[in-house]
Amino acid sequence: MSTYAKNQPSGFKNTIERVAIVGAGGTVGAHITAALLKTGKHTVTALSREDSGNKLPEGVLVATVDYDDEATIVAALKDQQFFIITVAPTAPRDTHSKLVQAAAKAGVPYVMPNGYGGDIDNIKLGEETMLGPVGKANRDEIEKLGMQWITVCCGFWYDYSLGGGESRFGFDFDKRSLTIYDDGNTKNSTSTLSQVGRAVAKVLSLNELPADENDKSLTLSSFLNKGVYLKSFVLSQNDMFESVKRVTGTTDADWTVTHEDSKKRYEDGLAQVKSGNMAGFAKLLYSRAFFPGDSSDFSAKTQNELLGLPNESLDESTKVGIDMVKVLQQRFERMAS
Ligand SMILES: NC(=O)c1ccc[n+]([C@@H]2O[C@H](COP(=O)([O-])OP(=O)(O)OC[C@H]3O[C@@H](n4cnc5c(N)ncnc54)[C@H](OP(=O)(O)O)[C@@H]3O)[C@@H](O)[C@H]2O)c1
Repeated sequence: MSTYAKNQPSGFKNTIERVAIVGAGGTVGAHITAALLKTGKHTVTALSREDSGNKLPEGVLVATVDYDDEATIVAALKDQQFFIITVAPTAPRDTHSKLVQAAAKAGVPYVMPNGYGGDIDNIKLGEETMLGPVGKANRDEIEKLGMQWITVCCGFWYDYSLGGGESRFGFDFDKRSLTIYDDGNTKNSTSTLSQVGRAVAKVLSLNELPADENDKSLTLSSFLNKGVYLKSFVLSQNDMFESVKRVTGTTDADWTVTHEDSKKRYEDGLAQVKSGNMAGFAKLLYSRAFFPGDSSDFSAKTQNELLGLPNESLDESTKVGIDMVKVLQQRFERMAS
């Protein structure tokens, strides 16, 4: 496709109106869908399994798909301009590839692949957390099939990771216990689920292409085959603990705090995963991201201002995370991996 709107065939609208999404009722997909609908600029079609137990947000069109029948996915994606994949990490391994192949057959030009994690350019971190090569393979497949991608680099979801149990940010709210990696001062880039939703909606609400060579405004095309980088907070576990105490009205005396060496915890998690126990995965992932001097802090690359993302209240986000504890505890399969 030519780089400028002025060279497009007549009838070209230079906006992304038709968006398809997998996971509209899922953890991050629900936030992305809500933010897209709120703009009033997009028609959102949710690709959903017939036996899905997920509640889809009001206002989306629903296309029922069967992952064992490609034609159903291709039909759902026909005429879509942008395809967002937020598929469960616990779904069968070939699910992402099935979606991407169907998107290519349907002629969708742009895909947002699964990812929604750290900096894709931090190769070492990606390899050591095992997520990097998977994300790279997903993006490569999109390119190989002639499409372009935009991936979201948001760091850990703050609210989800805070409420998601001891293996994540170390908090067990039922036991009022906290595992702190090392001295607890290493900082990580984090984003709330709602900030991720807003960022995606901002990018998809930009003009698709510059009008002509004089148009220097921000366009969706400037993000193609790149990450969009965002944050809500750059936090250490000690920062989180201070917020948790404020929000819960507790003091140090109410909490049992233990310290663990992040490198040892990473090795323990890795050994568990290698022996087939996926409970080690969250442990290795989060402890690795808090390695002192080599953490997942990419705040220097974040594009919040460029995208006009709002500043958020840490304590309000902490409350959202604590409110998620019970919901996440119901997701046995997911929380054990
Ligand atoms: N940065 C972070 O802290 C963080 C944390 C967790 C996950 N992530 C990443 O975010 C992405 C999406 O994760 P998520 O938690 O939003 O996903 P999720 O809520 O667990 O699942 C999203 C959707 O996947 C669909 N799905 C398709 N096949 C499925 C299957 N066999 N089993 C279960 N669901 C299936 C479901 O849609 P239907 O039911 O409508 O078919 C579901 O709503 C992944 O790339 C993951 O790695 C990032």
